[in-house]
Amino acid sequence: MHQQLPPEQLDRLICLEARIHRKSKEEIIQEQFLQMESERQTDENDRNKQNVDSNKKSDDLKCSLNSENSPQHLFPSQNMSPVQKKCIITKKHSQQKKNKKSKEGQQKDITQYLQFQKKQQKVKKSEQKLIEYSIQDSPFKNKSPLPYDPTVDKQLKEKQNQLAISEIKIKELETHNSELRETISSLTEQQLKMQDVVKQFAMENEKLKKLQLQTQLQANRVRLGEYVVQREKTALVDVWIDGQELREAKEQSKKIENLKVDYENRKKNCKNKEEQEMRTLNVKINFLVKEELQLQETVDRLETEKNLHIKQIKRVYEEEHARFTKNNDYPLIGERYQVLSLLGKGGFSEVYKAYDLQELREVACKIHQLNSNWSDHAKQNYIRHAIRENRVHKELNHTHIVKLYDSVEIDKSSFCTVLELCDGPDLAYYIKKYKCFPEKEAKLLIGQIISAIKYLNNHKNKIIHYDLKPQNILFHLNELKISDFGLCKVLEDDNSKLQLTSQGVGTYWYLPPECFHMGDQPPNISSKVDIWSIGVIFFEMLFGQKPFGQGISQEKILKEQIIVKSQSVTFPQKPLISNECKEFIRACLAYNQIDRLDVHQASNHSYFQKKQN
Ligand SMILES: Nc1ncnc2c1ncn2[C@@H]1O[C@H](COP(=O)(O)OP(=O)(O)O)[C@@H](O)[C@H]1O
Ligand SMILES: [Mg+2]
Repeated sequence: MHQQLPPEQLDRLICLEARIHRKSKEEIIQEQFLQMESERQTDENDRNKQNVDSNKKSDDLKCSLNSENSPQHLFPSQNMSPVQKKCIITKKHSQQKKNKKSKEGQQKDITQYLQFQKKQQKVKKSEQKLIEYSIQDSPFKNKSPLPYDPTVDKQLKEKQNQLAISEIKIKELETHNSELRETISSLTEQQLKMQDVVKQFAMENEKLKKLQLQTQLQANRVRLGEYVVQREKTALVDVWIDGQELREAKEQSKKIENLKVDYENRKKNCKNKEEQEMRTLNVKINFLVKEELQLQETVDRLETEKNLHIKQIKRVYEEEHARFTKNNDYPLIGERYQVLSLLGKGGFSEVYKAYDLQELREVACKIHQLNSNWSDHAKQNYIRHAIRENRVHKELNHTHIVKLYDSVEIDKSSFCTVLELCDGPDLAYYIKKYKCFPEKEAKLLIGQIISAIKYLNNHKNKIIHYDLKPQNILFHLNELKISDFGLCKVLEDDNSKLQLTSQGVGTYWYLPPECFHMGDQPPNISSKVDIWSIGVIFFEMLFGQKPFGQGISQEKILKEQIIVKSQSVTFPQKPLISNECKEFIRACLAYNQIDRLDVHQASNHSYFQKKQN
């Protein structure tokens, strides 16, 4: 109580004294206060008295030069000099001032303490009120209060600390987050700019390719021919006119033919006597035959080139009329896929080459479009097929199966599936171009198709492709990939057979006899459908023609039951192929399903185990 202490220390001091004297805090404060009051009173009296004394004795005061310890030093003596006396008085005054100061300090302390106590009481009262208020609403109001537990207090403090730390962290994260948001928005802006540049490059690149194609088409128009519009009675029709090279080759061939006929006639008119002339004619005819053979080869090659040229003309024409490329539209599908050109048209779809601006790669966008002229049933059927195709295809991941990356809704009646782009043309193009593949090459490619079919058969639900044909088998980096799962069938629950409910769809040259069988019940089919198709494709690759129904239309095949009557396969004399190969094809084209190879037998067949020479 003698120094100015902070209220907490003062309180502690009072508590200590109260404990020592076994009194209450209030009693101690009271005592202290009274003591101070009395001291103050005494002090005041002293001061008054001194004033009187000093007035009375002022002249007699003498300074004492004695030690400070001497009691004299506080009382001026008669023999002190006025200076000494003055010193003593000043000293005494300063002592009194000191005392007064410390007492004033004490008083101040106590006043502060009392104020502090008052405040504390106020706080306690309001806390009490708060507690009472919460107790009124509390479910524990009738329960006795819990005893004070210091660990709870400690835990509470720890929690409060943690809370404070968390709040700081949240603030930090919020700042970081807003910084990141800013970075993202600037990066997005950059990305959009870059995408725009990439898009321009991709489109320029495609434009160049188109220019090259146009130049090539123009040259081929002169060499091989073109369609021209001609009037036929009242109608305008497209008529094919052969190009210069083809025309010349054909004319040459005709000339040789005529010459040969002429020589033959001259030979007939020759009598035995003109032996020399006979011999000369024979030599000439032989020479013409050789020349004719060579020319025929040239004509055949030019005819093949002509067919491919017609295919290209058709594709350019289709591109000019296709949904996304006519009028040079080239839209962006799903804000990501920039349409570049038309790749091809299937039975029910248009397939475009596009550039994926996110993954920065070329893709194929297959557009599934509902035709407004279709009946509701046809539309529903189409949607069902497309959804299933999408679902099945998405799950597949195999080197020899075209990958499905994404699907995007375009509008109410169309959507797009985004596929891995295959750079080469389809197998049908090569069969047309080369007619016959060497056995070694054909075997290698068929092996790739079998491995894809084996994968489909080992899938958790077995899948039958059902539409294997050269148009649905695409080249990519000199390897084959199967595509178009539009007609695929999924075998549920470990079944190996399925009732064929959708008879009549598919491409008949490649479907086995069971798909055409009519009866009360729909026929049962299995993965062996795909094995039959593989047999047909293998045959076509080797001989340049189909084993059943070559040159016959789809309708006729159905009407004349061509496949149903195809009990066995016959191989052309040329080109020569190995007996093992024939045996394998025969086993794929076995009429009855039971006699036909299954997928595993096909992939483990001895023909594929042996290395081709
Ligand atoms: N992933 C692809 N890469 C390149 N060309 C493709 C791709 N998918 C399809 N095509 C081309 O489009 C044509 C039609 O595609 P397809 O899937 O068979 O359609 P549909 O189901 O209508 O028959 C194919 O023959 C092929 O020329
Ligand atoms: Mg197809």
